[in-house]
Amino acid sequence: MNSYREYFTYRNGTLYCEDVPLEAIAKEYGTPVYVYSSKCFIDKFTQLDDALSKHPHLVCYSVKSNSNLNILRMMQSAGCGMDVVSGGEIYRAIAAGVDPKKIVYAGVGKTSSEIELALATGIRMFNCESLPEIERINAIAQNMNKIASIAIRVNPDVEAHTHHYITTGKKENKFGVSLQLLPDITDVLQKLTHVKLTGLHVHIGSQITEVEPFEEACRRALEVMKALRAKGMDECTTLNLGGGFGIEYNDEDGLDIAKWAASIDNTIKDKDIFLIIEPGRYISGSSGALVTQVQYKKKADIKTFVIVDTGMHHLIRPTLYQAYQHIANVTLREGKEIVDVVGPICESGDFFAKDREISYTEQGDYLAVLSAGAYGMAMASRYNSHPLPAEVLVEGDRYRLIRSRETYEDLIARERV
Ligand code: LLP
Repeated sequence: MNSYREYFTYRNGTLYCEDVPLEAIAKEYGTPVYVYSSKCFIDKFTQLDDALSKHPHLVCYSVKSNSNLNILRMMQSAGCGMDVVSGGEIYRAIAAGVDPKKIVYAGVGKTSSEIELALATGIRMFNCESLPEIERINAIAQNMNKIASIAIRVNPDVEAHTHHYITTGKKENKFGVSLQLLPDITDVLQKLTHVKLTGLHVHIGSQITEVEPFEEACRRALEVMKALRAKGMDECTTLNLGGGFGIEYNDEDGLDIAKWAASIDNTIKDKDIFLIIEPGRYISGSSGALVTQVQYKKKADIKTFVIVDTGMHHLIRPTLYQAYQHIANVTLREGKEIVDVVGPICESGDFFAKDREISYTEQGDYLAVLSAGAYGMAMASRYNSHPLPAEVLVEGDRYRLIRSRETYEDLIARERV
């Protein structure tokens, strides 16, 4: 099970994160505020790390899902590596004290300056997505007198059964190299002097809840690896299986990690293969709640709107992916009602829930939008000139501010008049 229910529980009608009442945090730091359970991060990392115990491996937390420096620090102290996708994420990982040899770098659009930064930092490997990218890395590595370790991202053309915006391993997606084009690329690659092929990478999408797509992608990547090794590329020994492990947002089942691990054990018998995984959501998703305050209850012709002090600008998942995010009253009241929970933004797409039955709520109440630890704050914007929320990390019965709320001065600080 990977659900917010493990970390956010009611005690005497009031919602806690671990052993801290959310109301205390909302009162101290104001709303909107993202609140995270540190126990969730560590539990989920440990679960995945243990699941791969039969193989030499490294779990690289996907920084993009929640990139707060304190969270990266906590993860690196737990022994986690990092999956990054930009110069900014390399910068964050290094600032958090991550060993460069535990950093893997993916993304279809790496710029020259990002590649230089990655090489100067001494990251473990690049996950490459095209021949022109590999040629660019080779040229820059040559200038810097370095040899870049690279994996090719394979596009296995596997259906991941998830939202089409977050499917990445199909032919029509921009990611990776198809199995058909791969031989041409490896032929060119063998002639390049400053890149060394040390592995393959495959990431087929996000919020995947079935084992089969992972197994199929893994099997296809493994076949490619065997073929490359047979051609003499015997340094190609790392298999990066990507991220995408699904969690429970509502009543659906998340990915069964024991079943997934068993399928990996069955598929990969060779203990010389070094495995990497890049979980983001699985580690950060259930950890977070976005705590907000009801500003108004507006009874309209055919609906009741609960208008809160945050919205699509701070948590875009409901409107962007039609994603379900559970909404809970921080202090329970008697009764239930069907409402739309909406934000202050001047767009009709600004909603968290439509026609949703939630516990009865009144103006001034605090609500928690759950399972918001992944791709919540990470995708937040200042649209309509709302400052970004504060972030608080809970550990048992203690909590601390890990990002202060932005101010109006912050909003205009970089603008030049
Ligand atoms: N590795 C690569 C190469 C990725 O592109 C991603 C996510 C991950 C790992 C981590 O995936 P995860 O384990 O978190 O599923 N904003 C969307 C999700 C976008 C995922 C992008 N890539 C959402 O809120 O559902």
